[in-house]
Amino acid sequence: MQNPFKYGELTTDQNFCNRKQEIKRLQSAFRDGQSIVIISPRRWGKSSLVNQSVDTFKGKLTTIQIDCFGISSSREFYAVFLKATLQQTSSKLQQVVDTVAKSLKSIVPYIKYGVSENDEIQISLDLPHKKYEVEEILELPQRIAADRKTRLVVCIDEFQKIAEWSDGKMVLEKLRSYWQNHDKVSYCLYGSKRHLMSTLFAHASQPFYRFGEILFLDKIAEKEWTTFLIKEFDRTGKIISTETAQRLANLVDSHSYFVQYLARICWNNSEKKVTDQILDLSFLELLNDHLPVFQNQTRNLTKYQVNYLKAISAGETQLTSQRVINAFDLGSPGNSKRNQILFEDLEILDYALGNPRFCDPYFRPLFDRVFKLSSG
Ligand SMILES: Nc1ncnc2c1ncn2[C@@H]1O[C@H](COP(=O)(O)OP(=O)(O)O)[C@@H](O)[C@H]1O
Ligand SMILES: [Mg+2]
Repeated sequence: MQNPFKYGELTTDQNFCNRKQEIKRLQSAFRDGQSIVIISPRRWGKSSLVNQSVDTFKGKLTTIQIDCFGISSSREFYAVFLKATLQQTSSKLQQVVDTVAKSLKSIVPYIKYGVSENDEIQISLDLPHKKYEVEEILELPQRIAADRKTRLVVCIDEFQKIAEWSDGKMVLEKLRSYWQNHDKVSYCLYGSKRHLMSTLFAHASQPFYRFGEILFLDKIAEKEWTTFLIKEFDRTGKIISTETAQRLANLVDSHSYFVQYLARICWNNSEKKVTDQILDLSFLELLNDHLPVFQNQTRNLTKYQVNYLKAISAGETQLTSQRVINAFDLGSPGNSKRNQILFEDLEILDYALGNPRFCDPYFRPLFDRVFKLSSG
């Protein structure tokens, strides 16, 4: 039997837990040409959710998917955007040829295309160094959708990256100015830096203010995980009790990536039944696996920063109050404020629900272990 639990790749179908409400919302947005923004911390399941929602339309809907994660300039973005649009909307080379001939003028000589041995369309392109028409690139999805009398969904992952480019604000203004007229295309924009994403879409001064529906993705509830875990272990010839499944989800705060991670270790470590003892050992394995990452995250922290984390680990929530500042030696309220911004930016702490919480479930146990925090 194969271990059914996986992480680091997108989950679909069998390995996909719940999210029924969210899938419905995405589907109806895609169907209606409504744009939608998805915000959640990293690895809670945005990409998996989008993939799963798109998958259910199988063949009836064309999608273009782009990840901004490694893109560092607008030039690179436009090239990736154009290439993805040509490639992902065409099943035959002739379609690419037609689209290029019909809709692109300033970029034509810079595109090469062909088919590989296994019949895949291959496209390579260099954007001209001087002038090329961004309009041609950004209008393309709408033109293709109109030509083929279909609807398109353009999915852009790690969208907040765009704001970081030197010409970020200008690019955003440009994107908005074209995209808002595209009635045949849904733009599905998602990203994991919650405060940045919220700013981009919820502040009146921003080009993407009120661009689309906003979906703040929650964690999958413990109850859903429990059912999912029991079913998946059972399907692959193993047993986990309801209580142990609940404990598993709780140990990793119901964090999607880490539920899969821990369940995967438990599956490997158990012959037949996942006992509490196996669960505890597996969690230790998870912690040890993440020790190097943790060390990287904490290597250069100052004394005040370490103290700040100690206060949070001890359950404090009023980090700028004089009492907490004195008790934990946090410097000044100004220090506390700056540390909040720093830890949020480093994705170590999350303040979205008001009180600070550690983003990753390995962080607090390792922090307490390494920084020898007296508990209580
Ligand atoms: N609905 C789900 N059911 C089961 N596992 C999930 C689900 N969503 C996410 N995961 C797990 O979490 C991991 C990270 O999910 P991903 O979609 O890449 O998150 P994000 O795009 O928010 O960073 C996946 O590889 C998978 O292991
Ligand atoms: Mg993702």
